[in-house]
Amino acid sequence: MNLRLLLVDDQEEILEGLRMAFKRTDYELFTAPSGEQAVQVLNSEKIDIVLTDLRMEGLDGMGVLRHATSLPEPPVVIILTAYGTIENAVEALKEGAWHYLTKPVNVKELRILVEKAAEHCNLVQENRNLREQVSRRFGMDGMVGETAEMQRIYEQVRLIAPTRANVLLLGESGTGKEVLAKALHHASPRARKPFVAVHCAALPETLLESELFGHERGAFTGAVSRRQGRFEMAHGGTIFLDEIGEVPLSMQVKLLRVLEAREIQRVGGTETITVDVRILAATNRDLAEDVQDGRFREDLYYRLNVVSITLPPLRQRKGDIPVLARHFLEELARENHREVPEVSREALDVLTKYHWPGNIRELSNVLENTFVFLRGNVLTPEDLPRSMFKPETDTGGGLHFPLGLSLEEVETEYLRRTLDHCEGNRTRAAEMLKISRRTLQRRLKELGVEAG
Ligand SMILES: Nc1ncnc2c1ncn2[C@@H]1O[C@H](COP(=O)(O)OP(=O)(O)OP(=O)(O)O)[C@@H](O)[C@H]1O
Ligand SMILES: [Mg+2]
Repeated sequence: MNLRLLLVDDQEEILEGLRMAFKRTDYELFTAPSGEQAVQVLNSEKIDIVLTDLRMEGLDGMGVLRHATSLPEPPVVIILTAYGTIENAVEALKEGAWHYLTKPVNVKELRILVEKAAEHCNLVQENRNLREQVSRRFGMDGMVGETAEMQRIYEQVRLIAPTRANVLLLGESGTGKEVLAKALHHASPRARKPFVAVHCAALPETLLESELFGHERGAFTGAVSRRQGRFEMAHGGTIFLDEIGEVPLSMQVKLLRVLEAREIQRVGGTETITVDVRILAATNRDLAEDVQDGRFREDLYYRLNVVSITLPPLRQRKGDIPVLARHFLEELARENHREVPEVSREALDVLTKYHWPGNIRELSNVLENTFVFLRGNVLTPEDLPRSMFKPETDTGGGLHFPLGLSLEEVETEYLRRTLDHCEGNRTRAAEMLKISRRTLQRRLKELGVEAG
């Protein structure tokens, strides 16, 4: 489609001159002999580039510029100005003009400038298209997914992000807790301040403390210089404490103090430093259970869990599998400079039926492996790993009970297997068994089943 160029000048000869300059080009031309008429054209036509004189009777070039920049898809504006009125031109640039040119105009120069403006327009348009595509696919800041389950998550993020409430992010491994933490940060008023993630499980206790709070020079062997901790780095922004359930009890006390007083002390230091940090914490453990079992401090739990968001496992939002698969394949194709493969209907069927214990991370890994070895440009079931073809109910081995067992023995074994399957998570096990967590606890105790 040809770009649309609007020429504005209240001097008839000059307007005609401009028209002549662009007559033999591909632009679709519009002219206006006054600022007022320029506004009318801008309101009725989608103009890409405006070339306007600055000084005109009535509404002047600045007026045209202001109107143009207020449009939802503003055109590129070039200002024509008489020699000696450069200050006005500079003023116009501040108001959003793209460029200016002094009169008398050199036609060649003018054409080159408009050509550049056209390139700029095309770029802006491409980006606009891309953004629309992406924002349609991404429900929110890097999160792909359109199912009702994900819409609910986005809704919660929208409500919670503007507040400074601490948020506990729950969900199985690979469901996107870290992605969600970033989305929360970016949707919050702290978006321009740092987002600092700490993987609490990765560090031994002493290192974790200096990682979080920093240390003074000489605080311990190897502390050769003062070091800022993560809380200080996150000042004004958000800190993400990943795998919070793995933090040892002694560190939990120290964290609680920060949450309550919003103050820290560097290891080996005496100075008290005030920090303004929003805290997001994540875990795939059953923290409520850890609290009951004395592995996690109750007071800290309540401080962290002002609000919680639980990400659903992928098997509970299978509707997102096609768009997620497409998204990962597009990414892989881009990184590897290859074409995006099509996914056959049968392959999509396999992907959708599989129960994805490792959730989105597993999907991403499976597709990466598949992509690397893919021949041709269609992904078929033969390309997918064999392990994906096991029926969902078979969670390894199947259950075989020889006749003659007591009901209690069967129940004991069944509870054990269910707990194993849920990696010891009693809340999930209770859900699977369709009984309350309390009932499950009681039965486990009665039957003398060891805690997993
Ligand atoms: N909604 C999503 N859209 C696109 N990619 C996603 C989405 N959610 C997660 N991912 C991707 O899946 C992978 C796992 O996500 P993430 O690391 O956030 O999971 P997690 O819940 O923190 O897992 P873990 O508990 O194992 O740390 C990442 O590669 C991430 O980019
Ligand atoms: Mg994680």
